[in-house]
Amino acid sequence: MSIEIPEGLTELLQSFTVEVLRNQPGDLLEFALQYFTRLKDRESTGASFGNEPHSNARAGKAVNFLDEAMQIDSENGEEDDDDDDEDFEAPVINRFIRRASVCAEAFNPDEDEEDKEPRVTYPKTDEQRQRLQEACRDILLFKNLDPEEMSQVLDAMFEKFCTDGEHIIDQDDDGDNFYVIESGTFSIFVNVDGAEKLVGCYDNRGSFGELALMYNTPRAATIIATLPGALWCLDRLTFRRIIVKNNAKKRKLYEAFIETLPLLTSLELSERMKVVDVISTKVYYDSQQIIAQGELADCFYIVESGHVRITIKRSRMKNEPDEEEVEIATCSRGQYFGELALVTNKPRAASAYAVGSVKCLVMDVQAFERLLGPCMDIMKRNIANYEEQLLTLFGSSTEIEQQFA
Ligand code: CMP
Ligand code: CMP
Repeated sequence: MSIEIPEGLTELLQSFTVEVLRNQPGDLLEFALQYFTRLKDRESTGASFGNEPHSNARAGKAVNFLDEAMQIDSENGEEDDDDDDEDFEAPVINRFIRRASVCAEAFNPDEDEEDKEPRVTYPKTDEQRQRLQEACRDILLFKNLDPEEMSQVLDAMFEKFCTDGEHIIDQDDDGDNFYVIESGTFSIFVNVDGAEKLVGCYDNRGSFGELALMYNTPRAATIIATLPGALWCLDRLTFRRIIVKNNAKKRKLYEAFIETLPLLTSLELSERMKVVDVISTKVYYDSQQIIAQGELADCFYIVESGHVRITIKRSRMKNEPDEEEVEIATCSRGQYFGELALVTNKPRAASAYAVGSVKCLVMDVQAFERLLGPCMDIMKRNIANYEEQLLTLFGSSTEIEQQFA
């Protein structure tokens, strides 16, 4: 008796297997459920099946990576020697491996990809959507999106649960998703001269995995869950269509301003543009507190417009119960604040308040550490001035010494 293998089955299973091998999911069933649901969604939007020539050969086309491989190739203007027919017949894994070597970013915002690609939507319960919105509330990369873009991002995100020890990202892999943390702790390792070095961690908040998707480079770090946790994932194509496109607009908007910042003079032009990519803008109303003294720090600020008042509680300086706040500095356009706690790894040394309406560029701690290393000399000189200023104002005290130790 001969058994007929349904058309498309081999490709379908191959694509799925490739995705499993790449993602190494902790929960295979959950992963399969998400994968095939997504495939089905695409089918129902007419994206991958039936509407085009060679649809049978494409039936098993992978949800993310194969569409994407072609997308990225065309973005980079690569000439494909093989014509498309051959691409469809080729084992999917070849395309996949080929993309691993792609690394030059060439996003062209004028080519509006948005309307060419079907939108990805994962249905969510009200409870899921609420949790997702909460997790995304402070994600800087989402801050500049308009409501429609934000809504598309939320629609496209899907949930992933992870176990203690699970590798969410491995350095040098291709980028699949951008991740927003709902819960859990994650260690960040970077391979330095063949040795894995722990460079930081995420504690129940934040996001990671944007670099490979933004710059079309291999993953720059390994991220391992150190507790069971929950992540929200945004697929590469949606990320590029919405976030990367938004960044291109941001570059146009902020290029000139960034060039004027004395702090960033030690950065190369390309590094300064990377700073623009990771910043978001936040607006504060008059008297609004931007930083609270004593709190843990996760952001760095550059004033784009308006003035920021820096104050310090006298009691901390004089060991008195009095909580009077004394103004110690004002920051205006082009000046920065909030670096001290990130550099010293201590709680915020002072508070910051908006004077009138204020607009700041905000960068998270991971980007600060990754991108502003070359600016550390300038920052350290400033930090030495703070110490002197406080000693002049309040006299010598152990608090001041500890703060700057
Ligand atoms: P990506 O390169 O896509 O995948 C690994 C992620 O780790 C990276 O994006 C960043 O989001 C995150 N990350 C956090 N700290 C670092 C660091 N010091 N170097 C590189 N990546 C980092
Ligand atoms: P950070 O401690 O992270 O948060 C409060 C910020 O106030 C601090 O970083 C500095 O950027 C800024 N600041 C300005 N002047 C001083 C000062 N004299 N001492 C401490 N912080 C100062």
